[in-house]
Amino acid sequence: MTEAIRPTVYIETYGCQMNVSDSELILGKLAASGYDEVKAPEAADVILVNTCAIREHAEQRVIGRLGEMKSRMKNDAILGVTGCMAQRLGPQILKSAKHVSLVVGPDGYRSLPLLVENARAGLRASVTDFDLEEHYEDFKPRRFDKVKAWIPVQRGCDYRCTYCIVPTTRGPERSRQLEQVVRETREIVAEGMSEVVLLGQTVNSYTDGRHDFADLLRAVGAVDGIKRLRFTSPHPNDFSNRVIEAMAETSAVCEHVHLPMQSGSTRTLKRMLRRYSREGYFECVDRLRSAMPGISMTTDIIVGFPGETEQDFEETLTAVDAIGFDDAYTFKFSPREGTPATKMPENEFVSDGVASERLARLISTVRSGMRERNLGSLGQRREVLIEKEARRGGLLQARTRDFKTVIVPGEANLIGTYATVELTGTTGSTFTGAIVRERAALPMAR
Ligand code: SAH
Ligand code: SF4
Ligand code: F3S
Repeated sequence: MTEAIRPTVYIETYGCQMNVSDSELILGKLAASGYDEVKAPEAADVILVNTCAIREHAEQRVIGRLGEMKSRMKNDAILGVTGCMAQRLGPQILKSAKHVSLVVGPDGYRSLPLLVENARAGLRASVTDFDLEEHYEDFKPRRFDKVKAWIPVQRGCDYRCTYCIVPTTRGPERSRQLEQVVRETREIVAEGMSEVVLLGQTVNSYTDGRHDFADLLRAVGAVDGIKRLRFTSPHPNDFSNRVIEAMAETSAVCEHVHLPMQSGSTRTLKRMLRRYSREGYFECVDRLRSAMPGISMTTDIIVGFPGETEQDFEETLTAVDAIGFDDAYTFKFSPREGTPATKMPENEFVSDGVASERLARLISTVRSGMRERNLGSLGQRREVLIEKEARRGGLLQARTRDFKTVIVPGEANLIGTYATVELTGTTGSTFTGAIVRERAALPMAR
């Protein structure tokens, strides 16, 4: 009888969608090796914390969480740290946290079942080799989301933005074969989903040796049953006209692009080694907008990068105004050990007080622009995909093709279906809406 009891795993995920997608792969692998997923660390035989290293704050949260696990985990449970912080710190984690048995970087998940087994026998390990062939093609991901599917198409990053730790934690860029991505897309449709999000650090630099990102968009968009196709995050320099044409000509590609700008000052962009200027970024926005009128645009912005002057910062504010972003993720620069930015002259570092003040001004500029644009959309009708129950009861959270969140009344059985809504109100960032005409998930609205 005891043989029949399956071991359990609990996984907690920090960081970007790539990490979420990796957690889905890890769970898939462990499920195939006989593990059941549980939703609380207290109940788990194996606890995995899939970590992020992008900013100091992200790492602090994980360190706090690992400390907490000490009192929450079962006596004989195995605690493992995976992801970017695992890759960055490796054996250091084993040294400083004795209750951690495993440290496994992003390319080592194939050996997780074996490593866990060894850990049970008392063998602690840190596995941080990169494997440029590894795409986990044979893993069957256990997807958290039932409405849209994350598909990694590229791992690693070959850019060297001077503030960024990702090239260190994820290794060199490599892409999956187009056929594999198409295969996974077909499987997703068979599971009843109609939206996919292609993932990569600079996803539009995708190349499998024979196909570029334009080919990939067209191929995935041509899979029967795919209604919505998104991708994140593209790099401005990799938006060739071919890619933009493919976006415009592939009906499933949604009218939204997340295009990290980082700064509106050419001087700062140069020091960040972003490889485009303020004008170059504007030009990319223009090409996207003329190919897809009305496309919505979101971005990432860093304030307080070493050497950023008040004038540089104001150029970021004027860029935000001029472009009219629909939303922006805004960050204070966080020095990451080993990155070139940390070696810039000390007297150029921006004080935390100044950075905080700039962040507040940036957020207020982003918000007021967003509010103005959203007020202008009231009364319009949009197709939404109903994604999940909203935090407040009796309400559902839906999303337009251009990535606006709309809260609509309705029952949970509508989740996963499409509807037409009228935008009736806005809080500034999200909308409330009324369903105008319900319809089932259309096979293909070509
Ligand atoms: N590959 C993506 C970005 C991944 S990291 C791209 O190139 O666009 C997500 C965002 O975190 C970045 O766009 C950047 O705005 C922010 N970021 C990265 N490193 C940072 C650091 N050291 N300090 C503050 N923000 C950072
Ligand atoms: Fe980091 Fe730059 Fe690569 Fe993005 S493109 S992951 S910001 S190095
Ligand atoms: Fe964080 Fe790694 Fe993603 S550092 S943002 S989890 S690639």
